[in-house]
Amino acid sequence: MDFKLSEEQLLIKEAARDFAKNELLPGVIERDEKQEFPKEQVKKMAELGFLGMMTSPEYGGSGMDTISYVMVMEEISKIDASCSVIVSVNNSLVCWGLENYGTEEQKKKYLTRLASGEIIGAFCLSEPEAGSDATSQKTTAIEKDGHYIINGTKNWITNGGTADVYLVIAQTHPEKKHKGINAFILEKGMPGFEIGPKEQKLGIRGSDTHSLIFNDVKVPKENRIGEDGFGFKFAMKTLAGGRIGIAAQALGIASGAYELAKEYSKVRKSFGTEICNHQAIAFKLADMHTQIEAARHLVLKAAWDKDNGHDYDLSGAMAKLYASQVAMDTAIEAVQIHGGNGYVKEYHVERLMRDAKITQIYEGTSEIQKVVISRGLLAE
Ligand code: CAA
Repeated sequence: MDFKLSEEQLLIKEAARDFAKNELLPGVIERDEKQEFPKEQVKKMAELGFLGMMTSPEYGGSGMDTISYVMVMEEISKIDASCSVIVSVNNSLVCWGLENYGTEEQKKKYLTRLASGEIIGAFCLSEPEAGSDATSQKTTAIEKDGHYIINGTKNWITNGGTADVYLVIAQTHPEKKHKGINAFILEKGMPGFEIGPKEQKLGIRGSDTHSLIFNDVKVPKENRIGEDGFGFKFAMKTLAGGRIGIAAQALGIASGAYELAKEYSKVRKSFGTEICNHQAIAFKLADMHTQIEAARHLVLKAAWDKDNGHDYDLSGAMAKLYASQVAMDTAIEAVQIHGGNGYVKEYHVERLMRDAKITQIYEGTSEIQKVVISRGLLAE
């Protein structure tokens, strides 16, 4: 077993850490307060190659491995999880899906601009009645004269208002159930494609979440991804990798909260000494650090599985399930260690606590991860 990271991986981690500290930290509280999309910061992430990290340079990406990607996700999430979800969706769900299943024309037309960060993408699976139960797609895509006509509504779409390219999952042949689902590439501005109001969220408030409405949107046949009926498999395969990204986001939120709590405990005094000298606090730090380290190993193992051609459905689901619980627990304890200061915005931990919650919900709730894990185990 080799736990050593390569020089290149360490350099990229350091670059992400510096970027997060210098470019994301200033203004992170205000962006959260105002629900402001981090437009300038996304531009800088594009310049650093963070928006198409695993995409081949042939299509505008950085050609890095999943280990580098999860380390960048961790570093960005320590400071600003609203930015890291943009990185995660663009990399794991949009670019990876297009690179692996798109046609050459689709890659040239869309992937190159998405991976370079010139534009960003959105992944549109969830519906008002199809969240966890993702096979129950009500959005329809009916084939007509060399086109598909799309009707329906999608909910809680990350990058919903700011994306230019949307991968939309829709039902073409209802009688075939999930085998009749397709995935399509839609562009902002297509007639009949309407962006609904922005959601007012508990956390990751800088990220731009919308519902989307499709009224007879005419999509060329060549914008379908894969064979007829491949859409549900496309979504599942793409989400399996996406879950590694969200696990890394959760890990970053946990590490960010832990680091703040540790530093605070070394300067805040009570009963005549720094609070880290009280076992009540020191033991909390010991638990937090141990759990974060365990989560990090699960995240890196899942990334390693993906990089080495092993199955990563299970390892990715386990990483997400565990890391998101650690994010929630650690952020709550970080607020507790900060006491009254933990409850006010300037100390950052209350935001991390709010941000942590979504990691247990999106890209498959914790309950869905347990479905994936238990089915995988029982199928062995
Ligand atoms: N890879 C390939 N195929 C897969 C797969 C995988 N990882 N997982 C499932 N499938 C296939 C199955 O093999 C099956 O195909 P066949 O019939 O041909 O064998 C098909 O998909 C249906 O699978 P199931 O019978 O297991 O379907 P199910 O309805 O019982 O359960 C589920 C499926 C795992 C619960 C799935 O619906 C699921 O993952 N739900 C959660 C959805 C989700 O994660 N949503 C996130 C929204 S996106 C988001 O959050 C992005 C964002 O903005 C941050």
